[in-house]
Amino acid sequence: MATTPNKPIQCLIFTPIPATKPRPPDAAFVYAWIGEKLCHKQPNPRKDHTMAINAPVRDYLKSRRSVGIGFLKDPGPTPDELAEILTIGTRVPDHGKFEPWRLILIEGDARVRAGEKLAEIQQRRRPDIDEAGLDMERRQFLPAPLTIGVLLSPKPNPKAPEMEQLLSAGNVCFNLSHAAFAMGFAAIWTNRWYGFDPEAQAMLGARGGERFVGFVHIGTPTAVIEDRDRPNLDRIVSRWGE
Ligand SMILES: Cc1cc2nc3c(=O)[nH]c(=O)nc-3n(C[C@H](O)[C@H](O)[C@H](O)COP(=O)(O)O)c2cc1C
Repeated sequence: MATTPNKPIQCLIFTPIPATKPRPPDAAFVYAWIGEKLCHKQPNPRKDHTMAINAPVRDYLKSRRSVGIGFLKDPGPTPDELAEILTIGTRVPDHGKFEPWRLILIEGDARVRAGEKLAEIQQRRRPDIDEAGLDMERRQFLPAPLTIGVLLSPKPNPKAPEMEQLLSAGNVCFNLSHAAFAMGFAAIWTNRWYGFDPEAQAMLGARGGERFVGFVHIGTPTAVIEDRDRPNLDRIVSRWGE
């Protein structure tokens, strides 16, 4: 479909759009092709031609807060919900499309086995560690029903220096968290000693050249978490030239 000159097309990039027809007859959105890209606009765009407000997304983002591992319980995502979370989670900016990340799922009995291995590593490192300390290690992936370890898996290329690939991996962590909330769960992104320790990283699935950038713990929240202070924009935002 050709676009009409002088008629601004408004593209909301958040709502997934079916790539093929047919459109539902009562579609809330009007679809329009712009070159190869499928965008959509609201039937009643604001007169000033700015993007229409997506209130649920805005309200979610304004109130988003992590839910600590201790407040995450069963049930976790079903296989279908997990597939959705992973699909959304890896839909991130990725300069060069190198997919410089890998994801390791730790769920079910594997949580217990991984915790045992962490305790073994700590016991070798710290022979004086007491039973409480070992128990803490054994419980690293409990009680959250699902943890997704996100690895930076760098693909050396001048087009996207490693810092950019690292940022992309960080985006995967945060997007996984958003996806979990979108699917009715809660989440927190952590990175503890086992995310930095080479032996623990290898035990958890890191291959040569890879390192963990985070572990996203996902489950059903058992508490409403009080919000924390948020950044004071006056302190961190300035206008260039003033
Ligand atoms: C790379 C990274 C590592 C983090 N590791 C931890 C952690 O080990 N433990 C923790 O309680 N929070 C950790 N956090 C912070 C939480 O993800 C979370 O942001 C914070 O607890 C609450 O802030 P929020 O409600 O704005 O998400 C980490 C955050 C980042 C970005």
